[in-house]
Amino acid sequence: MNVIILAAGRGTRMKSSLPKVLHPIGGLPMLFHVIDAARQLSAQQIICVIGHEAQQIQSGLVMHYGADHGLDLVLQSPALGTGHAVSCTLARLGPAQTSLVLYGDVPLIPRALLASLVQASASTEGLAVLTTGLADPTGYGRILRNSAGQILGCVEEKDASEAQRKITEVNTGIMAAPTDRLRHWVGQLTNHNAQGEYYLTDLLAMAAQEGVAISSLDCPADRVQGVNSQSQRAQVERIFQAGLAESLMAAGVQLADPLRIDIRGQLSAGTDVRIDVGCVFEGRVALADHVQIGPGVVLKNVRVEQGARIEAMSHLEDCTVGPRATVGPFARIRPGSVLAEGSHVGNFTELKNTHLGAYSKANHLSYLGDAQIGARVNVGAGTITCNYDGAEKHRTVIEDDVFIGSDTQLVAPVVVHEGATLGAGTTLTNDAPAHQLTLSRARQTSIPRWKRPKKQSH
Ligand code: UD1
Ligand code: CA
Repeated sequence: MNVIILAAGRGTRMKSSLPKVLHPIGGLPMLFHVIDAARQLSAQQIICVIGHEAQQIQSGLVMHYGADHGLDLVLQSPALGTGHAVSCTLARLGPAQTSLVLYGDVPLIPRALLASLVQASASTEGLAVLTTGLADPTGYGRILRNSAGQILGCVEEKDASEAQRKITEVNTGIMAAPTDRLRHWVGQLTNHNAQGEYYLTDLLAMAAQEGVAISSLDCPADRVQGVNSQSQRAQVERIFQAGLAESLMAAGVQLADPLRIDIRGQLSAGTDVRIDVGCVFEGRVALADHVQIGPGVVLKNVRVEQGARIEAMSHLEDCTVGPRATVGPFARIRPGSVLAEGSHVGNFTELKNTHLGAYSKANHLSYLGDAQIGARVNVGAGTITCNYDGAEKHRTVIEDDVFIGSDTQLVAPVVVHEGATLGAGTTLTNDAPAHQLTLSRARQTSIPRWKRPKKQSH
């Protein structure tokens, strides 16, 4: 089959500078959901009609699918309606028997139903449309049927009479037709309607008048909801997230509340994983068995190994958390960091490009950047690696079994050798030798009979 995806509209109702079809659902532009569905159908040809902000859509496609994305891009400018959009593809349309039309703003289409729709069109050599029943059909095209239940046409909201507006069976916009008939019908479209547009939906009436078979497939309403406004985008997002949450729970994941999770990428989870409310998962996140994620945690491209715990309000990106390690609450782990087995990172501690060795702890108020930290190290509260000299970044090496006193600055490049202890308040500018106490602060003195200055009274 040929697949035609319509994505040239302005999306005025979104009130956004981003083209509508690039607005994300589950972190992925909704157009890409539609393209992925088309690809799974193993279509011979996928034509994408673009127009409004075509450049931006084109570069989005190249970024996501690569320069050899294999999509046939057709420009529709100006956009004169969905029927006009299809007419712009006719010169490029391949020889396949059936053509399927998808809408770039209907992202959650059930893939199995698309195959049935194409099958219905091919077997009847007629038009096949996907319809659904909506309690509130406002804004959608209504399906018109005769008393015998045969489809006579489709009327858009703006052209519908009071009585027609009461019809709750709506057009999803998705249809399949024999390619030669599609050419013939689209060539005959006019724009004599309330919006002065060429409506693709007029094909239904044309087919009915020519006595060509029209079959309809009913589809669950939540899978074919269109996105025309920010409110509808948010609704579709929740539908999508609910599906992901269901499959996680079916696999045994304990979600504190399936309505309060956001997955914007791929989340895999082992057994007995617990996820509290308000977490966001981006990119590829893998949670091993017995992992616990506290409320309000953000994980982006993170691997969390067995039995590790991420406490409330922590933010982790491009890093690995080792088995039985604990992070947070209120920790930030930045790209390139690895937390080894049983390590602890506590509140208000930031790691960047840092390896924290097994059973080492940095529990309070620290910045550890570009550091290699060994095993069983204790990093005292308020420790800072001064990794940046204003021009270059430098590394700090802290070997096994080191104890770093509170409020210490490690001016990189610097090495703290095995078993060393740094006294509280040390500003370390030279390497610290192994197994010794290194201090840099002045000796404590007290001045007897010293008086605090007092304000003079006039
Ligand atoms: C359309 C249908 C309506 C259906 C609804 C389902 C028509 C006339 N109406 O209405 O029956 O119930 O979808 O969601 O088809 N587009 C172009 N070029 C254009 C105009 C639109 O490519 O000139 C694209 C848009 O980018 C969008 C899709 O076609 O992806 C649908 O256009 P939109 O304006 O949203 O149509 P609706 O008013 O939602
Ligand atoms: Ca729409």
